[in-house]
Amino acid sequence: MIINNLLLMLALWCPAPVSMATLSTQSSEGPAGTPADDGRILQRSKRGWMWNHFFLLEEYTGSDYQYVGKLHSDQDKGDGSVKYVLNGDGAGSLFLIDENSGDIHATKRLDREEKAYYTLRAQAVNKFNNHPLEPESEFIIKIHDINDNEPKFSKETYMATVPEMSDVGTYVLNVTAADADDETYGNSAKLVYSILEGQPYFSVEPETGTIRTALPNMDRENKEKYHVVIQAKDMAGQMGGLSGTTTVNITLTDVNDSPPRFPHSSYHLSTLESAELGSTVGRVKANDPDLGENAEMQYSIVDGEGRDRFDISTDRVTQEGVITVREPLDYETKRVYTLKVEATNTHPDGRFSYLGPFKDMASVRITVQDVDEPPVFSVNPYVIEVHEDKLAGSFIGAVTAQDPDLTNNPIKYSIDRHTDLDRLFNIDSNNGSITTLQNLDREMSKWHNVSVIATEISNRRQVTRVPVFIKVLDVNDNAPEFAMIYETFVCEKVKVGQLIQTISAVDTDDPLIGHKFAFSLSTQNPNFTISDNEDNTARILTKRAGFSRRDQGAYLLPVVISDNDYPIQSSTSTLTVRVCACDSRGNVQSCSAEAYTLSAGLSTGALVAILLCVIILLSECCSAHSLPLFP
Ligand SMILES: *[C@@H]1O[C@H](CO)[C@@H](O)[C@H](O)[C@H]1NC(C)=O
Ligand SMILES: *[C@@H]1O[C@H](CO)[C@@H](O)[C@H](O)[C@H]1NC(C)=O
Ligand SMILES: *[C@@H]1O[C@H](CO)[C@@H](O)[C@H](O)[C@H]1NC(C)=O
Ligand SMILES: *[C@@H]1O[C@H](CO)[C@@H](O)[C@H](O)[C@H]1NC(C)=O
Ligand SMILES: *[C@@H]1O[C@H](CO)[C@@H](O)[C@H](O)[C@H]1NC(C)=O
Repeated sequence: MIINNLLLMLALWCPAPVSMATLSTQSSEGPAGTPADDGRILQRSKRGWMWNHFFLLEEYTGSDYQYVGKLHSDQDKGDGSVKYVLNGDGAGSLFLIDENSGDIHATKRLDREEKAYYTLRAQAVNKFNNHPLEPESEFIIKIHDINDNEPKFSKETYMATVPEMSDVGTYVLNVTAADADDETYGNSAKLVYSILEGQPYFSVEPETGTIRTALPNMDRENKEKYHVVIQAKDMAGQMGGLSGTTTVNITLTDVNDSPPRFPHSSYHLSTLESAELGSTVGRVKANDPDLGENAEMQYSIVDGEGRDRFDISTDRVTQEGVITVREPLDYETKRVYTLKVEATNTHPDGRFSYLGPFKDMASVRITVQDVDEPPVFSVNPYVIEVHEDKLAGSFIGAVTAQDPDLTNNPIKYSIDRHTDLDRLFNIDSNNGSITTLQNLDREMSKWHNVSVIATEISNRRQVTRVPVFIKVLDVNDNAPEFAMIYETFVCEKVKVGQLIQTISAVDTDDPLIGHKFAFSLSTQNPNFTISDNEDNTARILTKRAGFSRRDQGAYLLPVVISDNDYPIQSSTSTLTVRVCACDSRGNVQSCSAEAYTLSAGLSTGALVAILLCVIILLSECCSAHSLPLFP
C-alpha cells in the first residue's frame, strides 16, 4: 500500500486522530484518523481532506528541483526490494520519482494559470522481477496559487453618458476587472475597486465596480466631459496586492436646464418703405446654451404698435427670429415702429421651472426709410364712358396722379401713343383732362383701351402707367333696313290676300332693350298691302287679284322701317315685285323682262339667266321655258 508521506506529515498537524488511508480504500469523508508515530496508520477511519493530493507552489524560482513529496508502500519493508514507478501527466519529464525512496521532484517551474493540477499513477513493484506488489493507484498533484496575476479590466477605455443635473448616486456604468489567480484560494483574486481620478464628481463601489455620480447639479454647460480612472486591486485591496486601471470617459448629456436669453434688451432694425410684403426686415436671436431640441425656441410678437405691421417666424436651422413685413409701409405716414418680441423654449423641462420661465423678451425698433417713389394714380384702372355722338374735342374724363414723397414733385401726363394709334384722344399734360380728337363710332369700335403715363417733371425716371378703358356708349344713329335683298314676284293669276313675301330688318345700333321695328308702306297702295307681324318681321300681301305682265311687268313697293329707340331712326327700302306667269301650283314659269332694269340687287346667276331669256325671247322661244329663279 502506497502511503503519501506528505499527507502523513500534514495529518500529524491535525487535531483529531487520523487514520492512514491506503490508496485503494481512499475516501474523502468522515472524521480524520490519527497516524502512528512512525507514519503507519493505527486506526482505519475516514479523514476530512483529499488525502491523495500533493500540493505544489506555482512559480518556484529555486535552482534545484522542487520537492513534491514522497510515496511509500506498506509493502516496502526497507530491504531494497521495492521499486516505485510513476505514470501519467508529466511522469518522467515534469515529475521524476526516485525509484528507491519514492521521492517525487518537479523539474520545471509550473504555472497554475496554465495547468492547475496533474493526474498521475503510482505503483510499487518488485525490483527484481517487476511484479506489481499492489494495483496502480491514482493521485493528483495540485499547483498552489500564488498572486502572480494583476486584475485586468475588460476594456482599456470605457465610454459612458449620464444626464447633467442628475441626482447624486445616479448609476453611470459598471466596470469589471478579472484576475486570473485562484478565486477559491486566498485573496489573490479578491478585487476591490477605487477611483484614482474623477473625484469629487464620481464614485465607484469597491465591491461591484459600479460608477455613480457623486456631486449634485453637475452642469453640462459648465463641463461636459470627465476623465475618470478606476483601479482594481487584488488581495482585497491590501498593501502588496496587484492592481490594474481603466479609463472611463463620461459625457454629460443635455437636459433643458437653460431658458433662452436675448443677449441685448433692445434691437434696432431698418427697412425701406418699398419693402415687399413678406420680405425680411432682420433677424434677432436669443441664446440657449442647451443642445438640440432643448435649445429649440419659437419667436412671437407679443406687443408693440408695429405688431400688426410685422410678422416674426423662427428659422429652424439657426434658431433665429426672422422679422418680415406684413402690411405695406409708408415713410410719409409712419417712420418708426416698436415690437416686443418673445423667445420661448419649445420643449421646457418642468423639473427646472424653479429657474424661472423658459422664455425671454426683447424690444425691437424698426425704422422705415424713405424711397423716392413714382407717382400714384388716384384710381387704377380708370373706366371712362362716352357717348358715340360726342363731338371731336369734347372732354370725356380726367386722371390724377400724385408724387407720394414729401417733396410732392409736379406731374405731367401723356397718352402712350402705341395704345392710341389712331390718335383718337388727347390728354392735358398739366391737369390730366382727356378729350376726343375725332368723332367716335361705337359701331366701329366699342372700346378704346389706352395707357396714360404720369411722369415726375423733376425726375423723369419716376414714371407710372395706368390703363384707361374708354367705353363708347351707343346712340341710336342708325336706321333699320332690309335684312337681305328680296327677289319678290307675284303670279299673274294671283288671288286677293296672297302672301308674296315676308320681310325682316336689321339695325347696327345696340339698344339696351333690344330692337323693335315697325313696318309700313310709305303711300297708300291699291295693289299690295303690308301686315306687321310685331316680331320684327312683316308680310307683303296682294290687295287685288289679276296681275298681267303685259300691263305692268314689275311694281316698286317703298317700305318704311323704323326703330323705337330715341331719337327714332327710320328708312325706306324699296321692294321690287315682278309679275310672272306661274303654273297651277304657283311655280314661276316666266317673268317680265322689264323688271330687271328696275331691280338693283339681283344675283349674278339670276342676271345671266335673265339675259339668256332675253336672247331667247328675241328668237321667240322663251315662253315655253321656265326660269330657275327660285329653286
Ligand atoms: C451593475 O452592477 C450591479 C452590482 O453587480 C448590478 O446589481 C447591476 O444590475 C449592474 N447594472 C448593470 C446595468 O449591469
Ligand atoms: C477619453 O478622453 C481622453 C481625454 O479626455 C481622450 O484623450 C481620449 O481620446 C478619450 N477616449 C476615447 C475613446 O474617446
Ligand atoms: C385742364 O386744363 C385745360 C387747359 O388749361 C382747361 O381747358 C381745362 O378746363 C382743364 N380741365 C380741368 C378739369 O380742370
Ligand atoms: C378693353 O378693356 C375692356 C375692359 O377690360 C375689355 O372688355 C375689352 O375687351 C378691351 N378691349 C380691347 C380692344 O382691348
Ligand atoms: C297699281 O296698279 C295699277 C295697274 O297696273 C297701276 O296703274 C298703278 O300705278 C299701281 N299703283 C301703284 C301705287 O303702283
